[in-house]
Amino acid sequence: MIDIKYINELKSIFGDDWVSEGTSIRELHSHDESFHSHTMPDVVVWPHTTEQVSKVVKWANERDMPITPWGVGTSLEGNPIPVHKGISMDFQEMNKILAIHREDFQVDVQPGVVYKEMNKILGHHGLFFPPDPGAAATIGGMIANNASGIRTVKYGATKDYIMKLTVVLPDGRIIYVGNRARKSSSGYNLCSLFTGSEGTLGIITEATLRLVGLPSNFMAVRAVFPTVLDATNTVFSIMSSGLVPSAMEFLDDKVIEILNRDRGISLHEMPTLLMEFNGFSATGLKEEMGYVEEICLENRSVFLDKGIGAAERARLWEMRHLTLESIKRSHAGLLPLIMDVAVPLSRYSEIVAFVKEEVKGLVAYIFGHAGDGNVHVVVMGKPDDIERWVLIEKANRNIVLKAIEFEGTCTGEHGVGIGKRRFLPIEHGEGLVLMKNIKTLLDPNNIMNPEKFFV
Ligand code: LAC
Ligand code: ZN
Repeated sequence: MIDIKYINELKSIFGDDWVSEGTSIRELHSHDESFHSHTMPDVVVWPHTTEQVSKVVKWANERDMPITPWGVGTSLEGNPIPVHKGISMDFQEMNKILAIHREDFQVDVQPGVVYKEMNKILGHHGLFFPPDPGAAATIGGMIANNASGIRTVKYGATKDYIMKLTVVLPDGRIIYVGNRARKSSSGYNLCSLFTGSEGTLGIITEATLRLVGLPSNFMAVRAVFPTVLDATNTVFSIMSSGLVPSAMEFLDDKVIEILNRDRGISLHEMPTLLMEFNGFSATGLKEEMGYVEEICLENRSVFLDKGIGAAERARLWEMRHLTLESIKRSHAGLLPLIMDVAVPLSRYSEIVAFVKEEVKGLVAYIFGHAGDGNVHVVVMGKPDDIERWVLIEKANRNIVLKAIEFEGTCTGEHGVGIGKRRFLPIEHGEGLVLMKNIKTLLDPNNIMNPEKFFV
């Protein structure tokens, strides 16, 4: 229990309405969408300004009180779970678009903005922020996690869109890193240091994001293959052909099976690639569609569904957006362990084949952002069914180790959180010692999202 004196001090910073010790509120902030154990914070606060954040961080630092920033809790590795309790800092109230710099292709935002909402508004200006993790994540969470998703194959990850950040350091200092120029060779890249730091080094309270122009037309293709290898080989053929897909997703037969059952549709229950291309004119896209078709047929595709235009794209892509939800809904009572590794593209076929072998006998669904060499496996289980969960964890470990052996990474996009901590020494070696030194330098009292990254 947190001392009532502390609660009153927090209320004097935030106002009575923006500090809560209520059990249901704390429960909401005790978990994300992963299976990781819940831990309730002692108190939840809702800041409205950078100055308030600075004040409370300084206050907490003087009292060794842990602080864990909170977006909306859509992360998948336990990233915002306040394992040392303390304060959960919810950015729901700092959710404004502060300025749209249309001619610079930039936007200034507060961290609590939900990116899908932001993109709706930016769309009126012919602009958009491309990283698309699927979930209704906040920009703050996306920056903290260096989120990416289905459009990364063409547009890159969140880190590629951060121009400038306002950061509150663990001692309460407010710093501004980066600038609004399109290029800069000025010093260490501190924007990159904070991007993906999962709230362990400081708290982002404002960001200037780079944007791109909305594409004017779309083309989408769903290609079905007799084997996983034919599908994954096609990924390489397309990527090396000079065509530039704006999305390139792999879905295994089991995923299609569950989508058919859950959604009442009837797609071929075979390894599938979903591709999207965007461009200026329907004529240009039609020509590209011909090449895509040719490449798929050369790789033994047995069925192709394709279309041009936004409506066709939505039709062909709907299934992908529903994937995770359909899998979870089809296994009520079970929790998902969502694996997420990425490898160099040349090893994609091998890692998918390895994954398939590893998860044999488990309730497992394989899909992924194939164009990025990123594979996900959703394995459904019950953490308290120890015997079975040990098998799931073992498969996860073997898959991560294989990805690292292939010179890849233990997490393509879901971050380290709680789930991937134990793999960082293997992936980074001495590099992790430097990370720890940076953490200690900035946060000597270890108040910022403790127990993440470093075991
Ligand atoms: C997705 C999430 C699981 O790709 O990253 O749907
Ligand atoms: Zn993903």
